[in-house]
Amino acid sequence: MKYLKEQENVLIFDTTLRDGEQSPGATMSHTEKLEIAELLDEMGVDIIEAGFPIASEGDFQAVSEIAKRSKNSVICGLSRANFRDIDRCWEAVQHATKPRIHTFIGTSPLHRQIPNLTMDEMADVIHETVTHARNLCENVQWSPMDATRTEIEYLYRVVEIAIKAGATTINIPDTVGYTAPRECANLISSLRDNVPGADNVVFATHCHNDLGMATANALAAVEAGARQIECTINGLGERAGNTALEEVVMALRVRNDIMPYQTKIDSTKLMNLSRMVATVSGFQVQYNKAIVGKNAFAHESGIHQDGMLKNAETFEIMRPEDIGLAETSLVLGKHSGRAALRAKLEDLGFELGDNQLKDIFVRFKELADRKKEIYDDDLLALMHNSSSDAEHDSLQIKKLRVVCGTDGPQTADLTMLIDGVESRVEASGDGPVDSVFNAVKNLFPHDASLQLYQVHAVTEGTDAQATVTVRMEEKGKIVVGQSSDTDTVVASAKAYVTALNKLLVRRQKKVPEAM
Ligand code: KIV
Ligand code: ZN
Repeated sequence: MKYLKEQENVLIFDTTLRDGEQSPGATMSHTEKLEIAELLDEMGVDIIEAGFPIASEGDFQAVSEIAKRSKNSVICGLSRANFRDIDRCWEAVQHATKPRIHTFIGTSPLHRQIPNLTMDEMADVIHETVTHARNLCENVQWSPMDATRTEIEYLYRVVEIAIKAGATTINIPDTVGYTAPRECANLISSLRDNVPGADNVVFATHCHNDLGMATANALAAVEAGARQIECTINGLGERAGNTALEEVVMALRVRNDIMPYQTKIDSTKLMNLSRMVATVSGFQVQYNKAIVGKNAFAHESGIHQDGMLKNAETFEIMRPEDIGLAETSLVLGKHSGRAALRAKLEDLGFELGDNQLKDIFVRFKELADRKKEIYDDDLLALMHNSSSDAEHDSLQIKKLRVVCGTDGPQTADLTMLIDGVESRVEASGDGPVDSVFNAVKNLFPHDASLQLYQVHAVTEGTDAQATVTVRMEEKGKIVVGQSSDTDTVVASAKAYVTALNKLLVRRQKKVPEAM
């Protein structure tokens, strides 16, 4: 194989906070984005695409703050091919020790029709915008969106222009998840073989999973010479998602014998990040998802269990601890002290300062008063509830009392803070949850429609916490709210209000979402 060398490094570019957040409903709060970025940085991600600064004031603030706090990772922002986008992107990422501007334009025939540019006109735009970005920042990534459906000769031409204008990374997006592994590899090899200056840049692969081939395509691209993989935690992303970070990282590790490429990722942090992204995005990981699914290391059949007890390698190609899945039997309860709580949270990947621990400990005790045994999943739900932006949210629940039972009507007596002002209402409905949602709507009228209401028990038993997920839609904007409590109705109220708070954030976004 032409490009296969001994143990080469492959850069991991994580776009959970940008492409991942573009999944309908996956909007993340400011605090959640900062926490995820910190974990990605700690895990060894080379480049974090922190957002799309021109999209909204919220995106801009998040990218700037992530840039300021970054330690090791390059911090990248996305911008369309115009000076205003690029300037705004630079304003946000310039605070990073290692900033990067990523600019893109759709080059395929279909995408060229949108700005209505001829091939020559688009080539000029590429030259001007990449030059402009490079005058601001030494590290510039350029992407021909829908590259896999762009005429190959035109792709050679525009990639050459971008390289000459100063792009340091050329990303080849399979925007609609259309390509297949061999074709994807051939595309990277032919660009490397035919574009003058190709040896001076890093080629990146950016795959979507519409045909379920995103991971295979990304790995094939690496074998053909791509040295940056663009991916997201849990494969989060528009439609069927992006290449899953955990899959490419573990595939390169487990099959290093045939794919001799290294990443800097500390894989023991994968599980924690996966849980965190699932919780904040509201996109639960499917049970049989590779690497991070609940069943990825579970063995049900007798033959498998017997084999596993004799020798784990019989049915396991990697160990649960490799991805940070600790097998612990320590269960906490109301007599557990701060040290035990801290140790347990550290096991789950949370490093807490003394003040944070104090706060969580109070919540933990409240939960332990209502629930005999506290499991890992309870603690994760607790950590998520406490990490949401509650105190900065415009809408907050202050007090809730619900009357329900066989003799209706079920009623909710609700007090809320709306932009700091307290209001109270009593409302009835068809059941306790409906009456609570009606009460919220009375206090905060809106036209968003409820698309999904889902309840999951976090653990077993009648005292288990319930995690409620609520999905709402307003004028094509979708948001997801999630909350956990031992009282299902309280969890429902909080999840509903979380979704509405996210909707308020989404209302500020101006840029069309689809790309
Ligand atoms: O899928 C895509 O084409 C993108 C680009 C903006 C890189 O996400
Ligand atoms: Zn994409």
